[in-house]
Amino acid sequence: MNSHAASSSLVELKHLTFGYGGRPVLSDLSLRFPKGKVTALMGASGGGKTTVLRLIGGQISPQSGEVIFDGQRLDTSNRKALYQARRRMGMLFQFGALFTDLSVFDNVAFPLREHSDLSPELIRDIVLMKLNAVGLRGARDLMPSEISGGMARRVALARAIALDPELVMYDEPFAGLDPISLGTSARLIRQLNDALGLTSIVVSHDLDETFSIADHVIILANGRVAAEGSPAQVRASQDPLVHQFVNALPEGPVRFHYPGPSVAQDFGTDSGSDSGPNLGTNLGANLGEKGANS
Ligand SMILES: Nc1ncnc2c1ncn2[C@@H]1O[C@H](COP(=O)(O)OP(=O)(O)O)[C@@H](O)[C@H]1O
Ligand SMILES: [Mg+2]
Repeated sequence: MNSHAASSSLVELKHLTFGYGGRPVLSDLSLRFPKGKVTALMGASGGGKTTVLRLIGGQISPQSGEVIFDGQRLDTSNRKALYQARRRMGMLFQFGALFTDLSVFDNVAFPLREHSDLSPELIRDIVLMKLNAVGLRGARDLMPSEISGGMARRVALARAIALDPELVMYDEPFAGLDPISLGTSARLIRQLNDALGLTSIVVSHDLDETFSIADHVIILANGRVAAEGSPAQVRASQDPLVHQFVNALPEGPVRFHYPGPSVAQDFGTDSGSDSGPNLGTNLGANLGEKGANS
């Protein structure tokens, strides 16, 4: 074990290769998530960001390479060791919805009741402390249907930190939030990281908010690291792919168009080009994002 690396990184991925059913997603990927810091993991949709979080959480195992959490290899751990490591992680997954039939209080209490033998009195104190940390102590008795989307996200955040994790992974925590809630959530992630001495990994598409709270930014593309560094370093990158991503440009190394038949083949035009300038650029905008790694 490399003790030097372990002292500065809480999570480390080494030469990781992973694919679903033989379709490669990550190839020889090496990453470090520094202890105590907020690291943003960014990149085009379908690039493997959620997959990286699932590998760290041990929900899936790499085909080759190593997943190291606090100096301990997770990918070869037995069930018990993996379970223990996972208890030190909080996860706020994409669409990680609240239980709609449980109150705000009971949503946050859920993991404590499930994973600890704490007394009801102690659970109450912890739940109110966590709700206080996200500014929602007063909303304890409300049902999820009675709170806004931004508040629901903060309750989910309180639930994710209920068991006092050392690592918190956020998968697109800002998706669907209005600009004010988005800013509030982003600052909250930063504040909780610093106040509770956490290590945070934030997967997000929101460049400005994410760059404003991250210490370290990693941009994934084509199963590898395209750029890495401080937000300022990544913003200044001259790499064409990173430039395209940071400036949200539709054309560049990450193709807008999903690979398919040429325009001429599909429409019988004689343009001969596969990007069809006459068709405008709005068709299939969502499909286009996946072109890079197909
Ligand atoms: N359970 C799965 N089975 C098969 N393919 C999957 C599965 N989950 C994700 N993928 C594919 O793996 C690639 C990476 O997915 P993902 O990690 O979700 O990307 P991101 O989070 O960056 O958008 C995508 O092409 C996606 O379609
Ligand atoms: Mg994802």
